[in-house]
Amino acid sequence: SAPLRIGLIGFGCVGQGLYEILQRLPGFGAEVRRIAVKNPAKLRTLPAEAFSFHADELLQDPGLDVLVEVIDDAAEAFRLVSTALRQGRQVVTANKAMVAQHLPELVALQREFGGILLYEAAVCGSIPIIRTLDAHFGQEPLRSVSGIFNGSSNYVLTRMGQDGSEYAVALAEAQQKGFAETDPTLDMAAFDPRSKAVILAAHAYGVFLQPEQVLNLGIENVSATDIGYAAVAGQKIKVVAGLYLLPNNQLSVLVTPQFVDPTSSLYTVDDEFNGVVIEAEFAGTQFLQGRGAGGHPTGSAVLSDIAALRNQQRYAYPKLGTEPLTYTTDLEIEIY
Ligand code: HSE
Repeated sequence: SAPLRIGLIGFGCVGQGLYEILQRLPGFGAEVRRIAVKNPAKLRTLPAEAFSFHADELLQDPGLDVLVEVIDDAAEAFRLVSTALRQGRQVVTANKAMVAQHLPELVALQREFGGILLYEAAVCGSIPIIRTLDAHFGQEPLRSVSGIFNGSSNYVLTRMGQDGSEYAVALAEAQQKGFAETDPTLDMAAFDPRSKAVILAAHAYGVFLQPEQVLNLGIENVSATDIGYAAVAGQKIKVVAGLYLLPNNQLSVLVTPQFVDPTSSLYTVDDEFNGVVIEAEFAGTQFLQGRGAGGHPTGSAVLSDIAALRNQQRYAYPKLGTEPLTYTTDLEIEIY
Protein backbone atom coordinates (compact mmCIF):
# COMPACT_ATOMS: atom_id res chain seq x y z
CA SER A 1 0.00 0.00 0.00
CA ALA A 2 1.09 3.59 -0.59
CA PRO A 3 3.04 5.20 2.25
CA LEU A 4 1.11 7.37 4.64
CA ARG A 5 1.86 11.01 3.84
CA ILE A 6 2.54 13.04 6.95
CA GLY A 7 2.46 16.79 7.38
CA LEU A 8 4.55 17.75 10.39
CA ILE A 9 3.80 21.04 12.11
CA GLY A 10 6.73 21.91 14.37
CA PHE A 11 10.29 20.67 14.18
CA GLY A 12 11.55 21.01 17.74
CA CYS A 13 12.61 18.22 20.07
CA VAL A 14 9.54 16.02 19.42
CA GLY A 15 9.21 16.83 15.71
CA GLN A 16 12.84 15.99 15.05
CA GLY A 17 12.56 12.91 17.24
CA LEU A 18 9.67 11.61 15.16
CA TYR A 19 11.44 12.49 11.94
CA GLU A 20 14.53 10.51 12.98
CA ILE A 21 12.43 7.55 14.06
CA LEU A 22 10.68 7.42 10.68
CA GLN A 23 14.06 7.62 8.92
CA ARG A 24 15.16 4.59 10.89
CA LEU A 25 11.99 2.64 10.15
CA PRO A 26 11.65 2.71 6.38
CA GLY A 27 9.44 -0.38 6.56
CA PHE A 28 6.85 1.45 8.64
CA GLY A 29 5.30 2.88 5.51
CA ALA A 30 5.00 6.55 6.38
CA GLU A 31 6.89 9.51 5.08
CA VAL A 32 7.11 13.10 6.18
CA ARG A 33 6.00 15.03 3.09
CA ARG A 34 5.98 18.55 4.47
CA ILE A 35 7.21 20.30 7.58
CA ALA A 36 5.90 23.63 8.82
CA VAL A 37 8.23 25.68 10.98
CA LYS A 38 8.30 29.18 12.41
CA ASN A 39 11.93 30.02 11.86
CA PRO A 40 13.25 29.51 8.30
CA ALA A 41 16.85 30.02 9.35
CA LYS A 42 17.36 26.73 11.18
CA LEU A 43 16.69 23.83 8.85
CA ARG A 44 18.83 21.61 6.77
CA THR A 45 17.93 17.96 6.97
CA LEU A 46 15.47 18.04 4.05
CA PRO A 47 15.24 19.76 0.68
CA ALA A 48 13.99 23.32 0.97
CA GLU A 49 10.68 22.60 -0.75
CA ALA A 50 9.71 20.29 2.12
CA PHE A 51 9.52 23.27 4.47
CA SER A 52 6.74 25.73 4.82
CA PHE A 53 6.65 28.77 7.05
CA HIS A 54 2.88 28.80 7.11
CA ALA A 55 1.29 25.87 8.89
CA ASP A 56 -2.01 26.72 7.17
CA GLU A 57 -0.52 25.59 3.87
CA LEU A 58 -0.35 22.08 5.27
CA LEU A 59 -3.99 22.28 6.36
CA GLN A 60 -4.91 23.18 2.80
CA ASP A 61 -2.83 20.40 1.25
CA PRO A 62 -5.10 17.50 0.21
CA GLY A 63 -2.03 15.36 -0.45
CA LEU A 64 -1.41 14.80 3.27
CA ASP A 65 -3.07 11.90 5.07
CA VAL A 66 -2.12 12.76 8.65
CA LEU A 67 -1.23 16.04 10.33
CA VAL A 68 1.14 15.84 13.28
CA GLU A 69 1.08 18.97 15.44
CA VAL A 70 4.05 19.31 17.77
CA ILE A 71 4.42 23.03 18.35
CA ASP A 72 4.76 24.76 21.69
CA ASP A 73 2.12 27.47 21.48
CA ALA A 74 -1.13 26.04 22.85
CA ALA A 75 -3.38 28.74 21.36
CA GLU A 76 -1.93 28.35 17.87
CA ALA A 77 -1.99 24.57 18.25
CA PHE A 78 -5.71 24.71 19.07
CA ARG A 79 -6.39 26.93 16.08
CA LEU A 80 -4.60 24.51 13.76
CA VAL A 81 -5.96 21.29 15.26
CA SER A 82 -9.56 22.51 15.48
CA THR A 83 -9.40 23.75 11.89
CA ALA A 84 -8.08 20.38 10.76
CA LEU A 85 -10.81 18.53 12.68
CA ARG A 86 -13.45 20.73 11.05
CA GLN A 87 -12.09 19.39 7.76
CA GLY A 88 -12.58 15.86 9.08
CA ARG A 89 -8.85 15.26 9.08
CA GLN A 90 -6.73 12.81 11.05
CA VAL A 91 -4.53 14.61 13.53
CA VAL A 92 -1.92 13.66 16.10
CA THR A 93 -0.83 16.15 18.75
CA ALA A 94 1.61 16.09 21.65
CA ASN A 95 0.37 19.37 23.12
CA LYS A 96 -0.93 18.58 26.61
CA ALA A 97 -1.77 22.16 27.55
CA MET A 98 -3.89 22.50 24.43
CA VAL A 99 -5.68 19.17 24.90
CA ALA A 100 -6.27 19.82 28.62
CA GLN A 101 -7.80 23.24 27.95
CA HIS A 102 -10.01 22.22 25.04
CA LEU A 103 -10.85 18.55 25.37
CA PRO A 104 -14.68 18.86 25.37
CA GLU A 105 -14.57 20.87 22.16
CA LEU A 106 -12.01 18.56 20.57
CA VAL A 107 -14.23 15.57 21.28
CA ALA A 108 -17.29 17.39 19.92
CA LEU A 109 -15.46 18.35 16.72
CA GLN A 110 -14.47 14.75 16.08
CA ARG A 111 -18.05 13.63 16.56
CA GLU A 112 -19.46 16.34 14.34
CA PHE A 113 -17.02 16.19 11.44
CA GLY A 114 -15.75 12.61 11.59
CA GLY A 115 -12.06 13.42 11.96
CA ILE A 116 -9.79 11.72 14.49
CA LEU A 117 -7.51 13.23 17.10
CA LEU A 118 -4.97 11.13 19.00
CA TYR A 119 -2.60 12.45 21.66
CA GLU A 120 -0.79 9.56 23.36
CA ALA A 121 2.41 11.66 23.41
CA ALA A 122 0.73 14.38 25.46
CA VAL A 123 0.75 12.34 28.68
CA CYS A 124 3.87 10.71 30.12
CA GLY A 125 5.83 10.58 26.86
CA SER A 126 6.52 6.99 25.88
CA ILE A 127 4.14 5.36 28.40
CA PRO A 128 1.00 4.12 26.60
CA ILE A 129 -1.29 5.41 29.32
CA ILE A 130 -4.14 6.95 27.35
CA ARG A 131 -4.69 3.90 25.17
CA THR A 132 -4.45 1.71 28.27
CA LEU A 133 -7.11 3.69 30.14
CA ASP A 134 -9.32 4.27 27.12
CA ALA A 135 -9.32 0.79 25.64
CA HIS A 136 -8.11 -1.65 28.24
CA PHE A 137 -9.74 -0.11 31.33
CA GLY A 138 -12.63 1.49 29.46
CA GLN A 139 -15.20 -0.68 31.22
CA GLU A 140 -13.63 -1.10 34.63
CA PRO A 141 -14.08 1.19 37.62
CA LEU A 142 -10.77 2.66 38.75
CA ARG A 143 -9.98 3.47 42.36
CA SER A 144 -7.07 5.68 41.48
CA VAL A 145 -4.64 6.71 38.80
CA SER A 146 -1.56 8.36 40.20
CA GLY A 147 2.04 8.89 39.35
CA ILE A 148 4.96 10.99 38.30
CA PHE A 149 3.89 12.87 35.19
CA ASN A 150 6.76 15.32 34.74
CA GLY A 151 10.24 14.26 33.72
CA SER A 152 12.00 17.57 34.24
CA SER A 153 11.02 18.14 37.84
CA ASN A 154 11.70 14.48 38.60
CA TYR A 155 15.13 14.86 37.03
CA VAL A 156 15.86 17.92 39.15
CA LEU A 157 14.71 16.24 42.37
CA THR A 158 16.78 13.14 41.54
CA ARG A 159 19.95 15.14 40.86
CA MET A 160 19.48 17.19 44.03
CA GLY A 161 18.95 14.02 46.06
CA GLN A 162 21.64 11.81 44.55
CA ASP A 163 24.44 14.26 43.74
CA GLY A 164 23.59 17.22 45.95
CA SER A 165 23.26 19.32 42.77
CA GLU A 166 21.96 22.85 43.06
CA TYR A 167 18.43 23.34 41.77
CA ALA A 168 19.54 25.74 39.00
CA VAL A 169 22.29 23.39 37.77
CA ALA A 170 19.98 20.38 37.65
CA LEU A 171 17.34 22.43 35.84
CA ALA A 172 19.85 23.58 33.22
CA GLU A 173 20.77 19.91 32.62
CA ALA A 174 17.11 18.96 32.16
CA GLN A 175 16.74 21.78 29.63
CA GLN A 176 19.90 20.79 27.82
CA LYS A 177 18.67 17.20 27.51
CA GLY A 178 15.42 18.36 25.94
CA PHE A 179 13.13 17.26 28.78
CA ALA A 180 11.92 20.69 29.85
CA GLU A 181 9.25 22.86 28.29
CA THR A 182 10.42 26.04 26.56
CA ASP A 183 9.15 27.83 29.67
CA PRO A 184 10.48 25.55 32.45
CA THR A 185 8.09 27.15 34.95
CA LEU A 186 5.46 24.87 33.44
CA ASP A 187 7.49 21.89 34.66
CA MET A 188 8.83 23.24 37.95
CA ALA A 189 5.53 24.75 39.13
CA ALA A 190 3.66 21.59 38.05
CA PHE A 191 1.44 23.15 35.40
CA ASP A 192 2.62 20.51 32.92
CA PRO A 193 1.71 17.48 35.06
CA ARG A 194 -1.59 19.22 35.91
CA SER A 195 -2.50 19.28 32.21
CA LYS A 196 -1.73 15.57 32.03
CA ALA A 197 -3.88 14.84 35.10
CA VAL A 198 -6.79 16.71 33.47
CA ILE A 199 -6.47 14.60 30.31
CA LEU A 200 -6.34 11.37 32.30
CA ALA A 201 -9.44 12.41 34.29
CA ALA A 202 -11.39 12.30 31.03
CA HIS A 203 -10.08 8.89 30.00
CA ALA A 204 -10.05 7.24 33.43
CA TYR A 205 -13.28 8.69 34.87
CA GLY A 206 -15.17 10.38 32.04
CA VAL A 207 -14.80 13.75 33.76
CA PHE A 208 -13.88 16.97 31.98
CA LEU A 209 -12.03 19.30 34.33
CA GLN A 210 -10.66 22.72 33.60
CA PRO A 211 -6.96 22.85 34.50
CA GLU A 212 -7.64 25.75 36.90
CA GLN A 213 -9.82 23.48 39.02
CA VAL A 214 -6.83 21.32 39.94
CA LEU A 215 -4.38 22.34 42.64
CA ASN A 216 -0.77 22.21 41.46
CA LEU A 217 2.20 22.74 43.73
CA GLY A 218 5.69 22.56 42.26
CA ILE A 219 9.23 22.15 43.46
CA GLU A 220 10.51 25.73 43.40
CA ASN A 221 10.46 25.78 47.19
CA VAL A 222 11.81 22.30 47.77
CA SER A 223 15.30 22.68 49.21
CA ALA A 224 18.25 20.34 49.57
CA THR A 225 17.47 20.39 53.29
CA ASP A 226 13.95 19.07 52.62
CA ILE A 227 15.32 16.29 50.45
CA GLY A 228 17.89 15.44 53.10
CA TYR A 229 15.18 15.39 55.76
CA ALA A 230 13.15 12.97 53.63
CA ALA A 231 16.21 10.76 53.06
CA VAL A 232 16.91 10.49 56.78
CA ALA A 233 13.34 9.25 57.17
CA GLY A 234 13.92 6.73 54.34
CA GLN A 235 11.73 8.67 51.90
CA LYS A 236 12.07 10.59 48.67
CA ILE A 237 10.26 13.76 47.66
CA LYS A 238 8.49 13.47 44.32
CA VAL A 239 5.82 15.45 42.51
CA VAL A 240 2.87 13.09 42.49
CA ALA A 241 -0.22 13.66 40.40
CA GLY A 242 -3.18 11.83 41.82
CA LEU A 243 -6.71 11.07 40.71
CA TYR A 244 -8.47 9.34 43.58
CA LEU A 245 -12.02 8.08 43.71
CA LEU A 246 -13.31 8.90 47.19
CA PRO A 247 -15.88 6.79 49.06
CA ASN A 248 -18.62 9.38 48.44
CA ASN A 249 -18.09 8.99 44.67
CA GLN A 250 -16.21 12.24 44.46
CA LEU A 251 -13.06 12.48 42.42
CA SER A 252 -10.09 14.20 43.99
CA VAL A 253 -7.42 15.47 41.59
CA LEU A 254 -4.26 17.26 42.66
CA VAL A 255 -0.57 17.54 41.85
CA THR A 256 1.82 18.15 44.74
CA PRO A 257 5.27 17.26 46.05
CA GLN A 258 4.90 14.35 48.44
CA PHE A 259 6.98 12.01 50.49
CA VAL A 260 7.25 8.69 48.68
CA ASP A 261 7.97 5.57 50.68
CA PRO A 262 10.23 2.71 49.44
CA THR A 263 7.19 0.41 49.35
CA SER A 264 5.67 2.60 46.60
CA SER A 265 6.28 1.70 42.96
CA LEU A 266 7.06 5.37 42.41
CA TYR A 267 10.05 5.33 44.78
CA THR A 268 12.47 4.06 42.12
CA VAL A 269 11.07 6.23 39.32
CA ASP A 270 14.03 8.57 39.05
CA ASP A 271 15.67 10.93 36.56
CA GLU A 272 13.39 11.85 33.66
CA PHE A 273 11.35 8.69 34.04
CA ASN A 274 7.63 8.82 34.60
CA GLY A 275 5.51 6.22 36.34
CA VAL A 276 1.79 5.58 36.59
CA VAL A 277 -0.01 3.37 39.10
CA ILE A 278 -3.50 2.24 38.17
CA GLU A 279 -5.68 0.74 40.90
CA ALA A 280 -8.51 -1.04 39.12
CA GLU A 281 -11.55 -2.66 40.64
CA PHE A 282 -10.98 -6.11 39.12
CA ALA A 283 -7.49 -6.10 37.64
CA GLY A 284 -5.92 -4.88 40.85
CA THR A 285 -2.86 -2.70 40.81
CA GLN A 286 -0.75 -2.08 37.74
CA PHE A 287 2.36 -0.01 37.31
CA LEU A 288 3.76 1.46 34.12
CA GLN A 289 7.15 3.10 33.95
CA GLY A 290 8.97 4.72 31.08
CA ARG A 291 10.61 7.81 29.70
CA GLY A 292 8.29 10.75 30.02
CA ALA A 293 10.22 13.25 27.94
CA GLY A 294 12.80 13.61 25.19
CA GLY A 295 12.62 13.48 21.41
CA HIS A 296 12.75 9.76 20.76
CA PRO A 297 10.52 8.56 23.63
CA THR A 298 7.89 11.19 22.85
CA GLY A 299 8.34 10.59 19.12
CA SER A 300 7.69 6.91 19.80
CA ALA A 301 4.28 7.76 21.28
CA VAL A 302 3.49 9.91 18.23
CA LEU A 303 4.50 6.98 16.06
CA SER A 304 2.05 4.72 17.91
CA ASP A 305 -0.73 7.20 17.13
CA ILE A 306 0.19 7.30 13.45
CA ALA A 307 0.08 3.51 13.40
CA ALA A 308 -3.35 3.59 15.09
CA LEU A 309 -4.65 6.04 12.47
CA ARG A 310 -3.69 3.63 9.75
CA ASN A 311 -6.43 1.41 11.13
CA GLN A 312 -8.81 4.33 11.69
CA GLN A 313 -8.61 3.79 15.44
CA ARG A 314 -10.04 6.55 17.56
CA TYR A 315 -10.42 6.92 21.30
CA ALA A 316 -13.67 5.41 22.49
CA TYR A 317 -14.05 7.74 25.50
CA PRO A 318 -16.14 4.90 26.95
CA LYS A 319 -16.60 6.58 30.31
CA LEU A 320 -17.58 10.03 29.12
CA GLY A 321 -20.82 11.08 30.69
CA THR A 322 -21.37 7.70 32.33
CA GLU A 323 -19.99 8.29 35.80
CA PRO A 324 -22.09 10.23 38.29
CA LEU A 325 -18.98 11.76 39.79
CA THR A 326 -18.48 15.13 41.33
CA TYR A 327 -15.14 16.77 41.66
CA THR A 328 -13.78 17.86 45.00
CA THR A 329 -11.34 20.59 45.84
CA ASP A 330 -11.52 19.76 49.53
CA LEU A 331 -8.04 19.16 50.74
CA GLU A 332 -6.35 18.59 53.99
CA ILE A 333 -2.80 19.77 53.85
CA GLU A 334 -0.64 19.00 56.79
CA ILE A 335 1.92 21.63 57.64
CA TYR A 336 5.06 20.48 59.41
N1 HSE B 1 8.41 18.92 29.93
C1 HSE B 1 7.78 17.65 30.01
C2 HSE B 1 8.44 16.85 31.11
C3 HSE B 1 7.92 16.96 28.70
O1 HSE B 1 9.45 17.30 31.62
O2 HSE B 1 7.93 15.82 31.49
C4 HSE B 1 6.95 15.87 28.48
O3 HSE B 1 5.64 16.32 28.51
